[in-house]
Amino acid sequence: MKRVLITGSTQGIGKALALAFVKNGDEVIVHCSKDIEKAERIRKEIGASKAVVCDLSNMNEVSELYQKTGSVDCLILNASVQYKELWSEITDETFDKQFDINVKSTLKLMQAYYPAMQEKGFGRIVTIGSVNQYRQHAELSVYSATKCAVKKLVEVIAKQVAPFGVTVNNVSPGAIATPRNENVYKNEEMRKAVEKSIPMGRFGTPEDCVGAVLMLCSEQGAYITGTDIVIDGGMRL
Ligand SMILES: NC(=O)c1ccc[n+]([C@@H]2O[C@H](COP(=O)([O-])OP(=O)(O)OC[C@H]3O[C@@H](n4cnc5c(N)ncnc54)[C@H](OP(=O)(O)O)[C@@H]3O)[C@@H](O)[C@H]2O)c1
Repeated sequence: MKRVLITGSTQGIGKALALAFVKNGDEVIVHCSKDIEKAERIRKEIGASKAVVCDLSNMNEVSELYQKTGSVDCLILNASVQYKELWSEITDETFDKQFDINVKSTLKLMQAYYPAMQEKGFGRIVTIGSVNQYRQHAELSVYSATKCAVKKLVEVIAKQVAPFGVTVNNVSPGAIATPRNENVYKNEEMRKAVEKSIPMGRFGTPEDCVGAVLMLCSEQGAYITGTDIVIDGGMRL
């Protein structure tokens, strides 16, 4: 049984991952930004062990998360924010928010959780990226840049920590039907427009993202590090 922390696991892909680890017999810590009642509700619903809140835009809170959870075997860095804006209209506020939550907190959490993994000689770190690392979405330049930044962190850090039994990988979903993009896939016209850009012709489900992450955290993934697994129905092609 492994201890697993999944950030942003009260809905969408993070929740599907949390449930899959619970079904796998692991001890799962559910996390969201502020609403402890929501985190507790999801914890009970899926049978996870613990629920915590931590606003990943607040670096003081990020520094305290490790104290709340203790060490973990698997750190799944899934939470992110996304602001749709043309590149010419990006503001300092949305730039900083996306870089703080998506990149800075990711690095700080790796720094906080890695030492215990090194001591144990075992650890699995998985970041959740995006197909937009490979595509040029006009309204997602900063969001895409944050995902590329994390992918580079993964590559650099994976090489440094490989001798200590810790793997670091990125998993990049395509268009997945989650609360984040409900307004798109619940609108027939918008949904069809997106589906046209997906060779498999459909949105992915949160469950489509589960297999790769479970595999990376299992014995089968022991020799895989510093890579990116894209789960997008061919959307990046
Ligand atoms: N859905 C897609 O099509 C898609 C495609 C490519 C990549 N991805 C990536 O997959 C991951 C999950 O996406 P999703 O669509 O499942 O997301 P989602 O439905 O928007 O859920 C995001 C989760 O992150 C948490 N979160 C957001 N801001 C936070 C903050 N400041 N501090 C702490 N937690 C915060 C949310 O908690 P609160 O409710 O408390 O804010 C929520 O649990 C993200 O990294 C996303 O970029 C998604």
